[in-house]
Amino acid sequence: MERNFVISILIINGPNLNILGKRETHHYGILDLNAIEQKCNELAKELGTELEFIQSNHEGSLVDSIQLAQDKHQGIIINAGAYTHTSVAIVDAVLGVKLPVIEVHLSNIYKREYFRHHSYLSPVAIGGVFGFGATSYLLALRAMVDYLGR
Ligand code: DQA
Repeated sequence: MERNFVISILIINGPNLNILGKRETHHYGILDLNAIEQKCNELAKELGTELEFIQSNHEGSLVDSIQLAQDKHQGIIINAGAYTHTSVAIVDAVLGVKLPVIEVHLSNIYKREYFRHHSYLSPVAIGGVFGFGATSYLLALRAMVDYLGR
């Protein structure tokens, strides 16, 4: 892809995603977060994109990261974990920054408990990828680069 500036994308992971690989592997797979980030970095290299990764178990820190992304990144990919289903504060942060956001989940949240079927993020995201394990992140990354290149 011909581009005369480097796109920078922030990949945010929320609560309990720091224990991937050990946590409910039947839902989330055996890869830990480092391994997923490494796969993202390999794809980013291929796509000519820069990535920054943030993980936090704290809602306020996730809000801070979204706000700070405004001047540093062109897009955000977020797996907000359980905050997907509860956090108006994260939605407000997304609305506040005017950056395109793609929602990601490792598992198919619609195949699981009823309380996971509602996402506060979906209505404010440009799109979402769920159910493909680590590949959800890679598909989201391709989609974001494609979206930003339009
Ligand atoms: C998750 C799905 C959420 O419902 C859950 O709370 C998570 C992980 C996923 O990636 O499948 O922590 O976001």
